[in-house]
Amino acid sequence: MHSGKIICVGLGPGDPEMMSVKADRLLRNARHVAYFRKRGHPGKARQLVNGMLRADVTEYPMEYPLTTEIPHDDPRYIAQLSDFYLGWQSRLTELARCEDVIVLCEGDPFFYGSFMHLYVRLRNEGVVPVEVLPGIPGMVGCWHATGIPMTWGDDVMSVLPATLADEPLRNHMARSDALVIMKVGRHLSRIRTLLTEQGKLDQAWLVINGTMSDQQVMPLRDAPERCPYFAIVIVHGNGRRPANDM
Ligand SMILES: C[S@@+](CC[C@H](N)C(=O)[O-])C[C@H]1O[C@@H](n2cnc3c(N)ncnc32)[C@H](O)[C@@H]1O
Repeated sequence: MHSGKIICVGLGPGDPEMMSVKADRLLRNARHVAYFRKRGHPGKARQLVNGMLRADVTEYPMEYPLTTEIPHDDPRYIAQLSDFYLGWQSRLTELARCEDVIVLCEGDPFFYGSFMHLYVRLRNEGVVPVEVLPGIPGMVGCWHATGIPMTWGDDVMSVLPATLADEPLRNHMARSDALVIMKVGRHLSRIRTLLTEQGKLDQAWLVINGTMSDQQVMPLRDAPERCPYFAIVIVHGNGRRPANDM
């Protein structure tokens, strides 16, 4: 019999004051806290809760066996990631035998979140209750950081992972009024070239670490050649509205 649950907590875009009241309560009372991180890195989600956890908390860093070392469709990548999730599925299930386990996730867990891979496995297995607490997605924090409204009237907004190939990116960019481009990191210069081709460079913004203490917001044309993984490109919609709205 399990008396604990696994609860993935969406932490919001970065500013701790943008977390939900429920997230704050769960984090401050948590005795077991797990989070994903790249090997050798502290983990963004873990950094976002600095100063919030109990002194006697036990932490479980879930270190990805690999990230960008081999292509995502390589069978070795798929096999290693699958083993990784399977391993943590059983470890978290075991921990939740007696007590709740909190899993940290930046933004909203159901929006490109790694926890989803554990969630579907845990839910299908059905041994331990699993819950997910929504958070404000990073992109929302980022478009607010620009101080410019995002979508008007009939504007169509697309959310694009920068990891897509050029052709689908081009097609989506051409068809959409407003754009959010995620996972920019090492794809920044390619994104800049594609937006230039589409005549959208002058409307594009780059937001790095949006809402965090080291947030940077700049027009994309003024951005440096490289940017960190926690960066989003925003193109605001400019759709239907009364003529006297600026
Ligand atoms: C794996 S996705 C996770 C998204 C997350 N679950 C969310 O709801 O925002 C990671 C990407 O989210 C984007 N991101 C999330 N929060 C961000 C923030 N505060 N500032 C800039 N980029 C952010 C970056 O593009 C990053 O590469």
